[in-house]
Amino acid sequence: MTDVLVVGDANPDLILSGDVVPRFGQVEQLLDGADLVIGGSGGILANGLARLGRSTRLVAATGSDLLGDLMRQLLSAGGVETTALLRQQDHSTGITIVLTSPDDRAVLTYLGAIPLLSRVDVQSALDLAVLDGVRHVHVASYYLLGALAPDLPGLLEDARSRGLTTSLDTNFDPAERWDGVADLLPHLDLLLPNRQEAFGLAGRLTGAAPADVEAGAAALAAAGPVVVVKDGAAGAVSVDRSGHVLREAATAVVTLDATGAGDTFDAAYLDSFLRGLDPQECLRRACLAGAISTSALGGTGGQPTIDQLSSPGRDADVLRQL
Ligand SMILES: Nc1ncnc2c1ncn2[C@@H]1O[C@H](COP(=O)(O)OP(=O)(O)OP(=O)(O)O)[C@@H](O)[C@H]1O
Ligand SMILES: [Mg+2]
Repeated sequence: MTDVLVVGDANPDLILSGDVVPRFGQVEQLLDGADLVIGGSGGILANGLARLGRSTRLVAATGSDLLGDLMRQLLSAGGVETTALLRQQDHSTGITIVLTSPDDRAVLTYLGAIPLLSRVDVQSALDLAVLDGVRHVHVASYYLLGALAPDLPGLLEDARSRGLTTSLDTNFDPAERWDGVADLLPHLDLLLPNRQEAFGLAGRLTGAAPADVEAGAAALAAAGPVVVVKDGAAGAVSVDRSGHVLREAATAVVTLDATGAGDTFDAAYLDSFLRGLDPQECLRRACLAGAISTSALGGTGGQPTIDQLSSPGRDADVLRQL
């Protein structure tokens, strides 16, 4: 049985910490830490769902190289089903190098095989997952999936016609055009942007910058999905089709590394949504999960278990134990 099919990106993150501002001129600097961990919005979210106990399969393109094998190994160890991970011949696996200092980070990404994921790849993964009882399809990193993007509305429509629910976290658009949103919205149950992405998507949809984040989310929600906007240390808001707004404050936490907070938030929101919990409880669990995830290095190092999310009123206790 598979509950959730995640469509997206899977690549390692190499997190370097310490004296990380590179100096050209062949200067060698020594670092405090180097960790090679699961990266990619799709990979981190799939791992987060598996950690919450949801059976989750990831379809994403890796290269035919050691980094691709590493992703299979790490995701598999995290409980993610990797049978639909693709190995593209003659391509490298994508990688992100994160230079992290106490106050800031710089991020260098090589996309590698990520954009090669195709309609045929996703359609066959979906057909197999349906046979295994899949209930939900989530798409991550839409703007990195160049080959798939034009076919995604049709794939989501097909998934819904087969009784599945759907969600999308576009993440950032490197081109900052925010194309495609109008065609996707009618086929989504949930859209999960961060604040900046919500502004970009709503601006593209309506042709004007929204007055505030609620107005932007409401414009997007009017076209179909419940829109859940992540806002870092300010928490999150959700807006449904009728314009009803819910808010949740962030949980106070000592932040070590915010990488993957959004994807871990998404994982908890989706798990709660699939449990049929009310929207305010979905938001509470998602915000708690996002906060917990920032307490450890890397996208998956601090992802919560279901026990850490499911006891109402005990958020402060959970965080004290981190
Ligand atoms: N510093 C923080 N303190 C408390 N909670 C936080 C903090 N940062 C993030 N969170 C929680 O995690 C959620 C998601 O974080 P964020 O807004 O950074 O998402 P994102 O920009 O999509 O992240 P990502 O980089 O993973 O794509 C927030 O809505 C909030 O609930
Ligand atoms: Mg995000």
